[in-house]
Amino acid sequence: MGNSNNVVILATGGTIAGTAARSSQSVGYSAAQLGVDQLLAAVPDLAEVAGGGLIAEQVAQLDSKDMDDAAWRQLALRCRHWLARADVAAVVITHGTDTLEETAWFLQQVLPAGGKPVVLTCAMRPATALLADGPQNLRDAVACAVDAQAQGVLVVVAGQVHGARAVRKQHPYRLDAFSSAEQGAMGWIEEGQVRWQQPPQCRLPEASAWQADVEALPCDDWPWVEVVSSHAGCDGRAVDALLAQGVQGLVVAATGNGTLHRALGPALHRALQAGVPVWLSTRCSEGQLVAAQGHATQAERQPRPVDLPPFKARISLQLALLAHRA
Ligand code: SIN
Repeated sequence: MGNSNNVVILATGGTIAGTAARSSQSVGYSAAQLGVDQLLAAVPDLAEVAGGGLIAEQVAQLDSKDMDDAAWRQLALRCRHWLARADVAAVVITHGTDTLEETAWFLQQVLPAGGKPVVLTCAMRPATALLADGPQNLRDAVACAVDAQAQGVLVVVAGQVHGARAVRKQHPYRLDAFSSAEQGAMGWIEEGQVRWQQPPQCRLPEASAWQADVEALPCDDWPWVEVVSSHAGCDGRAVDALLAQGVQGLVVAATGNGTLHRALGPALHRALQAGVPVWLSTRCSEGQLVAAQGHATQAERQPRPVDLPPFKARISLQLALLAHRA
């Protein structure tokens, strides 16, 4: 090691480590096949881009659709471990695209606000593809991680830098599958340099009870929180079934500005009466819920509107319930 500004690469699997039988195959491949050393070997000048040493660690080997609480906890602990070392400048995480935005949001909630950068990256094509995007994304992620203005949890993919709150996977196939929608990218990586549009310092840090004590996250048995949706033809049976099975929190992906099918409302009310918190989000892919004029305060026993998309709200509710339990 010997350096005071090492970059740590934590590998977790995904398509970036995926392989296919044929180079023309961009679907139907196996994710999470290559180890971290093979990912690094695909970018010959990575140490030069890092400007210091590279430390590689395989934290998991998953298709990210199978991400779970135990893997998240382990990843947070390894980030915490490396970030606490004076000889480490930044952490880069290779991850699958499918739940990358959830992992980014989870880490943003549990790692110290601001602080040394943690940059997640991924690929839409397996490592064996004719146009594998993983090596360039990894190189860009390292370039971003060592930029003087980088801080907190960031996502680098397809030449863009995104923040953990805004980023979402918007396309199942395109190489530029991620977007920060109306907020826009924080910046671009061009020839190994970041051109910032909105450096991370311009954004408010996110607060969470776990930032001080990620070690206290339990190894398993995290609160069971589900996302339910309001849609045409909806009724309350799914919510009642979840309540009967002991669900501990619900996030509703509501229509438009938080509206609910009239047949869903009574079931959500039953959940609230039973002491199960219900958070309200929108299924729209952009924007957030807007309070009506004069209705800024939360009514008793009503679903609580939140300014997060449903699957990020699910994580925040889980962490809030865990903090309450502690
Ligand atoms: C995964 O999310 O692990 C597989 C899909 C991908 O990385 O694009």
